[in-house]
Amino acid sequence: MSLRPYCGIDFGTSNSAVSVGRGDQVQLVPVEGDAVTLPSALFFNTEEDHLSFGRKAIAEYLDGYEGRLMRALKSVLGSHLIGETTQVGTKRKNFREIIGLYIAHVKQAAERHAGEPIEDVVLGRPVHFVDDDEEANQRAENELRGIAEAQGFKTIRFEYEPLAAARDYASRLSARETVLVVDIGGGTSDFSVLSLSPDHSDILANTGVHIGGTDFDRLLSMDTAMVDMGWKSKLKSGLDMPGLTYHQLSTWHLINFLYTQKVMHSVRELHHLAERRDLTQRLIKVLEDRMGHAIASRIEAAKIALSSDAVTHIDYGDIDAGWVSDVRRETLITATAREVARVVATALLCVEKAGLKPDAIHTLFMTGGSTAMPGFEAAMQAAFPAASINYGDRFSSVASGLGLAARAAFKT
Ligand SMILES: Nc1ncnc2c1ncn2[C@@H]1O[C@H](COP(=O)(O)OP(=O)(O)OP(=O)(O)O)[C@@H](O)[C@H]1O
Ligand SMILES: [Mg+2]
Repeated sequence: MSLRPYCGIDFGTSNSAVSVGRGDQVQLVPVEGDAVTLPSALFFNTEEDHLSFGRKAIAEYLDGYEGRLMRALKSVLGSHLIGETTQVGTKRKNFREIIGLYIAHVKQAAERHAGEPIEDVVLGRPVHFVDDDEEANQRAENELRGIAEAQGFKTIRFEYEPLAAARDYASRLSARETVLVVDIGGGTSDFSVLSLSPDHSDILANTGVHIGGTDFDRLLSMDTAMVDMGWKSKLKSGLDMPGLTYHQLSTWHLINFLYTQKVMHSVRELHHLAERRDLTQRLIKVLEDRMGHAIASRIEAAKIALSSDAVTHIDYGDIDAGWVSDVRRETLITATAREVARVVATALLCVEKAGLKPDAIHTLFMTGGSTAMPGFEAAMQAAFPAASINYGDRFSSVASGLGLAARAAFKT
């Protein structure tokens, strides 16, 4: 009898990846060309009537094809938005269907590799999909389970993403260590404390908080691009400019909700009342041309550039001739300082929950793209002075570990 394949899927806010195994052998598999990671993006290309995923989806949107880009869909799980629909061409689609299309695409990549259908999966999940609301948190997991079932998975297990990363780390370990796993992603920051040895692991505590790279993008955007579009300016009456539209425009998973007649109408009204119509004119142009994701992409790229450069340059000349913005690392650090401090506090809380003092941690095993935020490593080192820092693959450690979890659960 041939061995049944199984898989582990990391459905990330920003990037996804999948490991496929059979018997003892388990590996990350290509999901877009040769790449083993796939941006968590779909583009409903209504101009050419097709659906694209990943890098291709983002490229088609940025190339100016008519259609609808969807990103950060994981942030919708557990929120009231999951039941909402969004306009795609002439149809409306709900978020369960849209996330289902994405999971189906990842499943197909796994099955292409396996050469047959796969029914058994371990899905990663953050410790908290939703902060401070256990019911919504459980609802989010149930929604993801339902979506995976609808795509044909039969046996579905969940594992906390940082525990999956710990399996990846443990697979390379030679001695016993007390490890704090630090996974700072696009949507959430997740932590686990484990006592790990090559053949044994004890989970001591898990914590998580709904702060990640998409929040850092939002905060940087609010302090730069949105100010350049009128946020923080005044109305002619002397009142402050209302912030809701700016807030939505800088939040990845809310951008599409702005593209309605109702929003256009109220923004045109505000423009009429604004003191700085030169700035609100840009907002109107961005909404009319549906450039919300283009702005967010430029902000994200600037944030990433600032992890290595002290200053970076964003060109918005396609929206308003001559509009350019120099963004300094200090601006990013100031904009995000409070949230980064909350992330570090959540790490300390995890260690406290484990009944340990910070200096009992031997290793910080760091994964997730947002661990590269300026100042983050230094802040973690200051909080855990006795620990040495070890990086896993920032974008695939969790998926590798979910493959190991699937092997433990499903190996035949
Ligand atoms: N050099 C960098 N500096 C700062 N942030 C970065 C850098 N590189 C990537 N990021 C950010 O990392 C995030 C993506 O990380 P990752 O792929 O680990 O998230 P994810 O697994 O999709 O999200 P989650 O686990 O929270 O659901 C994005 O917000 C991205 O902008
Ligand atoms: Mg992740």
